[in-house]
Amino acid sequence: MKRTDGYELWLSYSPYSESMTKKYSAIIKNVYTALGSEILDAVSDEIELAFSSLLDTNFLLERNETVRFNNSSLLIAPYDHLDDDLCARLPPNKLPDGDGYSILSIQDSILITGLTEKGVLYGSFYFLRLLQTGKSIENLSIVSSPAVKWRILNHWDNLDGSVERGYAGKSLWKWKELPKLIDPRYKDYARACASIGINGAVLNNVNTQVYILSQEYIEKAAAIASIFRHFGIRIFLSVNFSSPALLGGLGTADPCDKNVIQWWKEKTAEIYSVIPDFGGFLVKADSEGQPGPYIYGRDHADGSNMLGRVLEPYGGIVIWRAFVYGQGETDRAKKAYSDFKPLDGKFLSNVCVQVKNGPIDFQPREPIHPLFGGMDKTNIFMELQITQEYLGQGNHLVFLAPMWKEILDFDTFANGKGSTVGSFLAAKADVKRITGISGVSNIGSDKNWCASLFHPANWYAFGRLCWDNTLSVEEIADEWAVCTWGANQKVLEAVKYILMNSWQACLDYMTPLCLHHIMRYNHHYGPDPACDEGSREDWKPKYYHRADSAGLGFDRTRNGTDAVDQYHKPVADMFDDIKTCPEKYLLWFHHVPWDYKLSSGRSLKEELSYVYEKGVKEAEDLRNKWLETKPELDKKRFESVLDKLNIQYEDAKEWRDVCLSYFLKFAEGEK
Ligand code: GCU
Repeated sequence: MKRTDGYELWLSYSPYSESMTKKYSAIIKNVYTALGSEILDAVSDEIELAFSSLLDTNFLLERNETVRFNNSSLLIAPYDHLDDDLCARLPPNKLPDGDGYSILSIQDSILITGLTEKGVLYGSFYFLRLLQTGKSIENLSIVSSPAVKWRILNHWDNLDGSVERGYAGKSLWKWKELPKLIDPRYKDYARACASIGINGAVLNNVNTQVYILSQEYIEKAAAIASIFRHFGIRIFLSVNFSSPALLGGLGTADPCDKNVIQWWKEKTAEIYSVIPDFGGFLVKADSEGQPGPYIYGRDHADGSNMLGRVLEPYGGIVIWRAFVYGQGETDRAKKAYSDFKPLDGKFLSNVCVQVKNGPIDFQPREPIHPLFGGMDKTNIFMELQITQEYLGQGNHLVFLAPMWKEILDFDTFANGKGSTVGSFLAAKADVKRITGISGVSNIGSDKNWCASLFHPANWYAFGRLCWDNTLSVEEIADEWAVCTWGANQKVLEAVKYILMNSWQACLDYMTPLCLHHIMRYNHHYGPDPACDEGSREDWKPKYYHRADSAGLGFDRTRNGTDAVDQYHKPVADMFDDIKTCPEKYLLWFHHVPWDYKLSSGRSLKEELSYVYEKGVKEAEDLRNKWLETKPELDKKRFESVLDKLNIQYEDAKEWRDVCLSYFLKFAEGEK
């Protein structure tokens, strides 16, 4: 009996159909895997677990030091564990790069191999997905390598068990019990991550507590690392830049101070003595109250390079966030570019600058951050937010893959036409660069991991797009839907409808035409365009929507804050001119008169009403589509999703009513 609580995520290994199970069972009679390490053992265990429900025959599973060719077999081993005869049977040019994998039919057998054990791990999960999704496993010739080197989840988990912007219960990490007690969920989390290629996890919040670097907590982190290692996942810690002063008792944390450097050296040595594969530090510096090098008159390069030098002997990296705003800039959207662009070329080779996808803060839609394509001598990581802080949090079902695709496919023109963000981020573009994408996790202690049975789709899509940003939204939706919900066509149709249409619905009922940051102060859930709370102007909705009797939207053109000129020329010109600025970004870049006619023929005032209304209808359609699954699903799953969709529909109406009644007052002439 399969579980219905969502715990198994996309790894429930439900057979696709009886006929496919028969076909697979006729092809795979034996399984030979390589022995020799924790990762290879994890692969064998996973295959055994999956095949016990995906095949209907008893199969032989043998683990050997070296894997030889056998008929009617699945052969799984890194290249250096294949015997000479099997190597000689490999078709030419079929080995992947780095941690990639090859899945190849060789006579009536199938070989999963790679240059590294991690490659074999990822290839095995990919192969299992072929079986879960009912694909043919004949004549296979698959070679695949990850697009970016680092595919990392950032947990904003506090050490007291709470999660900043977390909507799925408490933190997964039970710090109080660690290192003695190891929750079995650590392993299941790591399996799920590995199955989609995730290879790093930052365990704690970017707003740090300094004692994460105490000996006690380093040992706790080491216990988690010892589980994750079996699944190719390296851990990182978020650190407070002032730790040498706050934890070490030094009078300063100046990155140029000898004692400060020595403190970091000793701390780093201590970490590597218990976590030999430690990934490195993530730092939120000089941002939202977190200390940084500015305090000591130093800049981001001075601060990050000091840590880079300390980590370098161990192969660790520094991930230094570019989420900065505040003093000295009239437009918050311009601040990170203004501060970081002049430092291009000054960062060490193991320092990576992590930039949010857009210039403000994970809004339902933002234009791309100008630092993508803006700093070509620096390692740039992209930070996406999987947890839906501004997109209905744990209540709204919003599939984020379409948003991420829009971001990755955006052409920056950094090196002429075709300079997409995806290609800028990808390893293949420049082998010398360290590349990565981070995602702020939506995972918590809820049985279903992510607040609803649908929210794990975003965890899944994140991993898949980090691996291969050329995948289409449909492909990702198809995979997740079948692996999670099984092959019932009616259910699949509804699941896919929700996945494919939910982001557009959310944009329409929350932030049409690229309105942004008009959520309620602090918790960022519901609409509050009138809100005047908050200690800073750039935390207030009014700062962003700028509604007045003349129009609506933020003028970031050359006549306004000139944020447009942080982009490369053709893009800057396109955004600057109201006629060429894509309407989906209109109110981000322009203060648009109420009677301005849009491409629909409607005035701004009419369009706003039209789109909010459309959004409500779309939210209703999501719910109505789900109602069709009632006869096909168990009550528990059906109702738990319906409950969320009902909330989403009610919230959509609230967004429409609150925003229209507020904005239209200005259209009627209110100042
Ligand atoms: C947002 C979010 C904060 C978070 C910050 C960050 O502002 O609301 O909770 O700390 O981003 O990314 O550092």
